[in-house]
Amino acid sequence: MKQIKIEGGNTLSGTIAISGMKNAAVALIPASILCDEQLTITNVPNISDKSALVEIIKLLNGKVSENGSTLEIDTSQIENATIPESLSSKLRASYYFMGALLGRKKHVEIYFPGGCNIGNRKIDFHLKGFQLLGATIEEVDDKYVLHAEELKGATIPLDFASVGATINIMLAATKAKGRTIIENAAKEPDIINVANFLNNMGAKITGAGTDKIIIDGVDYLHKAEIEVLPDRIEAGTYLILGSLIGKELKITNIVKEHLDALLSKLIASGVQMDIKDNEITIHGHESLKAINVKTLVFPGFVTDWGQPMSVLLSQCNGTSIFEETIYENRMGHVPYLNKMGADMTVKEQTIYINGPTNLHGQTVVASDLRAGASLVIAGLIAEGNTIINDADHILRGYEKIVEKLTNVGAKIELHDIN
Ligand code: EPU
Repeated sequence: MKQIKIEGGNTLSGTIAISGMKNAAVALIPASILCDEQLTITNVPNISDKSALVEIIKLLNGKVSENGSTLEIDTSQIENATIPESLSSKLRASYYFMGALLGRKKHVEIYFPGGCNIGNRKIDFHLKGFQLLGATIEEVDDKYVLHAEELKGATIPLDFASVGATINIMLAATKAKGRTIIENAAKEPDIINVANFLNNMGAKITGAGTDKIIIDGVDYLHKAEIEVLPDRIEAGTYLILGSLIGKELKITNIVKEHLDALLSKLIASGVQMDIKDNEITIHGHESLKAINVKTLVFPGFVTDWGQPMSVLLSQCNGTSIFEETIYENRMGHVPYLNKMGADMTVKEQTIYINGPTNLHGQTVVASDLRAGASLVIAGLIAEGNTIINDADHILRGYEKIVEKLTNVGAKIELHDIN
């Protein structure tokens, strides 16, 4: 088990450069399965989710070479194989091999995906999409078996604008015969990044970033390159942290328009920042005002910022109301923040937060990735020492978090505990 130790109370100054977006990279790597030649993906974050996906590509007879943040992937000789539970359950995004392998080989055997325990996280929209494209689906024990003689384009309306379902259906449809239309598609930047990658390979996809994506199937995908977009969740996490204890803290390699929903909340609560298109400098704040926050699909306030944001709300004057609308169970951090001195009450999907309260160091547990990020922030603003157990979750999504924070003045260490 990994453990993070933090000595709180230090001001943070200097520069944090944002890495490539986890939730795009974890789709771009499986997307490479569709390509008949070689691919290059740059700005890939070195996080543990990436390593699991690379292992799956190799299991399927793909060749991967890594040079810093660049991945060279050759999937020209892909062979089918069952993706075992030991790999599929390591992360949520293993489900992208369903769409990609179905598109390439018309047959997939994969054990159930894993990922953070933050709600039911059904994949019924993905499966319904594959069926509409002509695939049959069997569930055998904890394994999905998907098969199609031929994939044929179809109109696929989504009941909810799911990021995962939009990308997975796009992957399966890229080599289907004819036209696929995804209605009520998710509009997140992750989807644009994946569509651009596929188009660079010769796919014919239009409308990514809008609620209607049109995919005209092609037979062959050629050599291509893509750069992973900057991670808006990582950027948001450091912006929230910097809003609390940053003094001339600069966050670079960002796309400002991906962060607008967060920036408007930070400004409303009193944070002073200098905002440019690709970097933000946080000057600091006087007293923070209570605000209300509700998570929404893009371009709204991203659910993944919610847990870190709740720490900021605990430092605002008055009662803030935070409402989570995407997942049913994204409150795993609250008991630990209360243990550290926060005053938070959960009612269904809403947290009522009274502030400001002084936080003090405690031993806590990262119940999931973004819960872990919120505890890092809490530990850094708290008085005294915080120990975060199960910190492995945090390393799934934040590249070099200890190094990046140490460079700006944080006292933070990562340990292996047996
Ligand atoms: N949903 C269904 N059926 C489906 C698909 C989704 O009911 O077939 C529900 C989910 O249960 C959830 C909601 O729809 O309540 C949203 O799910 P969505 O499919 O949009 O999310 P996801 O693809 O499972 C990705 C990210 C999440 C991020 C969300 C929203 C990956 C691997 N995961 O999840 O990232 O929160 O989009 O932006 O890309 C994280 O990074 O911490 C994380 C959880």
